Amino acid sequence: MTLSRMLKVLLVASTAPACVCGFAFGARVGSGLMAGSHHMTGSWRDPALRQPLSQLRMAEDSDTKTKERQPWEFRRFVRTIAFFNAPRPLAAARNAIRRRGEQGASSALPGGCILVAIGGGDDAATALGQRVTEQLLRRGALVRALVADGKAAAALELIGGGEKRLEVVQSNWEELPSIKPSVLEDVDRAVICAGGAGVDALVKSLKNYGDVQGRKLFSSAPGAVKSWEQWGALDDVVMGGVSTSELVVVPGEGEAGGRSSAAVFRGTVSPANNGGFASVRSRNASPPWDWSQFDALRLRVKGDGFRYKFTVYDAAGWDRPSWSYSFDTAAGEWADVTFPFSALMPIYRTKTMQDPPPLNLSTVYSLQLMLSKFEYDGGLNPTWKPGPFSLSLDSIATVKLGKTGGAVPPAIVILASGGTKAPASGEGVPMTVLDAGQPDAAAKTVDMLLAR
Ligand SMILES: *[C@@H]1O[C@H](CO)[C@@H](O)[C@H](O)[C@H]1NC(C)=O
Repeated sequence: MTLSRMLKVLLVASTAPACVCGFAFGARVGSGLMAGSHHMTGSWRDPALRQPLSQLRMAEDSDTKTKERQPWEFRRFVRTIAFFNAPRPLAAARNAIRRRGEQGASSALPGGCILVAIGGGDDAATALGQRVTEQLLRRGALVRALVADGKAAAALELIGGGEKRLEVVQSNWEELPSIKPSVLEDVDRAVICAGGAGVDALVKSLKNYGDVQGRKLFSSAPGAVKSWEQWGALDDVVMGGVSTSELVVVPGEGEAGGRSSAAVFRGTVSPANNGGFASVRSRNASPPWDWSQFDALRLRVKGDGFRYKFTVYDAAGWDRPSWSYSFDTAAGEWADVTFPFSALMPIYRTKTMQDPPPLNLSTVYSLQLMLSKFEYDGGLNPTWKPGPFSLSLDSIATVKLGKTGGAVPPAIVILASGGTKAPASGEGVPMTVLDAGQPDAAAKTVDMLLAR
């Protein structure tokens, strides 16, 4: 169904009473848009679409005689359809994340690079950092070296020999309260060859701007909040219902307090007109995301006690199978919701699929968050009740749980003198501290990072 055809149908329909439109069109749009909702009656190709309106009205009257009816908002329905059919700003969400608040990030490296941070004033640390860099390059990794000392930086450039897989950034990073976001762009692992006070700030910056906790798809971090503009409401209005929702960025709602922001999915759910769900969905990503290097999703959320649904679409069309995961929230508490892709349930319309195709991780187009009265196969959401709801989001990220399935390999290795402790700012990141004095410290570090 193209937009123009959809609008033509809508124009014809708009001469009929709104409630009829709700049932004639909503049920069909809904069947494609609302995986995990209920009440699906057919596809766009359904011949019922061509039934005279009088017949549809009769069917609707008999269907809902005893049920609560409320006026249906035709305009909101049209707005909903228009949002998801609008020409997409090219890769806008991704660019908002990529820029990370910096004017035109300059990275010459493709995604997934390893940061080697070398402190100044310590020859042993410099030598170790060089050994780690050499071995990483030899094993095919992409390396960005962040080097405090000018001479050491020049020496590293020589090691790289003009290689495209090494970038050297000279910076007095140990003295800085935080590192420029562009320096940490695409960094998903790091080695820090230093043990001083600057390590804490670097780890904090790695968490904020790098991918050490996974690759952020949407984030409320400063400079990335625009990524949420790709989300639009998709409520039961598409099926005649009256639930409403929105996703808005709210300053002051962020976990860090102060003026930090969070994206808030909020609204009101109502069972009127056979509805009962509100949702927000991201526009199709262009090009689609490739998640094949990851194995799980992590949502950082603050909920309100309701059970929400998170849905993944691996095709651009509307009426396609989707993959859903239900998660519970605790009222007023920030928490990580982490689930492996294998926990996503294949759904077609409202039903779980018996013989599903695999989720295609290399072509993920769209994500959806939903509060629904319904679970799957007609089951009810036990936490649902009519009224207002609110779910705050810090970020949505794809993460690695580790190739071994057992212990999670570290994303950050700190090479320092014996007895050095991992900095407090590293909470939530798999991190390890190795004694830089060990003879095989460099080799061990490289093995650990490449296991991730
Ligand atoms: C995923 O989609 C791509 C592009 O359409 C295709 O080439 C690939 O074979 C698909 N993979 C699976 C597992 O279906």
